[in-house]
Amino acid sequence: MNKPLLDVLDRHQHSPPPVWLMRQAGRYLPEYRAVREKAGGFLKLCFTPELAAEVTLQPVRRFGFDAAILFSDILVVPYALGQPVWFTEGEGPRLEPVADRDGLGRLKTELDHQALAPVYEAIAMIKSNLPPEVALLGFCGAPWTVASYMVAGCGTPEQEPARMFAYGDAEGFARLIDKLVEASASYLIHQLRAGVDAVQVFDTWAGILPGQEFHRWCIEPMQRIVVKVRSEIPQAKVIGFPRGVGLGLLRYVDEVPVDAVGLDWTADLMLARDRIQPRMPVQGNLDPLALLAGGAALDRAVDNILKLCAAKPFIFNLGHGILPHTPIAHVERMVARVRGLRS
Ligand code: CP3
Repeated sequence: MNKPLLDVLDRHQHSPPPVWLMRQAGRYLPEYRAVREKAGGFLKLCFTPELAAEVTLQPVRRFGFDAAILFSDILVVPYALGQPVWFTEGEGPRLEPVADRDGLGRLKTELDHQALAPVYEAIAMIKSNLPPEVALLGFCGAPWTVASYMVAGCGTPEQEPARMFAYGDAEGFARLIDKLVEASASYLIHQLRAGVDAVQVFDTWAGILPGQEFHRWCIEPMQRIVVKVRSEIPQAKVIGFPRGVGLGLLRYVDEVPVDAVGLDWTADLMLARDRIQPRMPVQGNLDPLALLAGGAALDRAVDNILKLCAAKPFIFNLGHGILPHTPIAHVERMVARVRGLRS
């Protein structure tokens, strides 16, 4: 049985396009909240294979999405590099900051795959429970985005701590990025060997950097990751998601050998259609707020995306993660509309 999403990554157009949502497993689902409560901590949920597999499958069961995305977090990589990471309810992630070269020295030289073994186990469990036409996606964070949390120790509005580290000690910061290139490539290779069909690399904070820095800390490390992964697994499929980079998208698709690129909700779809789709499939880019709003505004937004991008190889998705208060009925309405079933 063919998986439509993998077909699109092979540059074939599909009507209707395959659809999945970033953060599709999460707090907007009552069945997720129930498992989350049972698990105790968020990392406990990520590292208990039965529970991680269950919450990965929940949105596929409920909405019939064309892809499942492994339930985990981008911050398991710093965790497996020996950096203390924890999640405080309602506050998001916390890490013991790596603020300088001393902090760098405390990290492990290599990713601890033993610590990540439950992730690989979860992948095998998900695979054996997934309908054959549904693709399983693995993922990691891009080095710049992961480094921005590692340096600040938490989310910050403009990633000032990481940007100041990079300006003040570019060589030291490059060592952190290099470590994350190695760790991310190795993590993706292990996920692919465990059975994921394709991987997505989230560069959520790519759009905060000036052009030169964007090239040095986002494009160049991402090139190296894709080349490393393909040196072990030549047929590996990779989706890049450089959020908020505007015209930087053109440079990204020119220079990073990804199979498809994810567009955030501010991306210009005419530019995507005319300048990016002739080169590679695109994925995106419904505004998560349009999904939250629902009704006619949601219908219009979905129709506009389909009109501009669905004639060429395309994967329907949000332009960033689903918001926790999104009504389930809006997700159902969106999926029906993408599939041409108008209610
Ligand atoms: O997409 C999926 O369904 C798979 C799971 C997934 C999670 N995080 C689960 C999660 C994925 C792909 C991520 C990626 C991730 N994590 C990113 C990159 C993409 C993005 O959304 O920008 C980033 C920056 C993180 C780091 C992170 N993890 C933050 C900033 C937060 C707090 C924000 C929030 O929504 O609470 C998390 C926690 C987190 N990761 C939750 C989930 C479902 C919520 C935690 C909970 O259930 O209590």
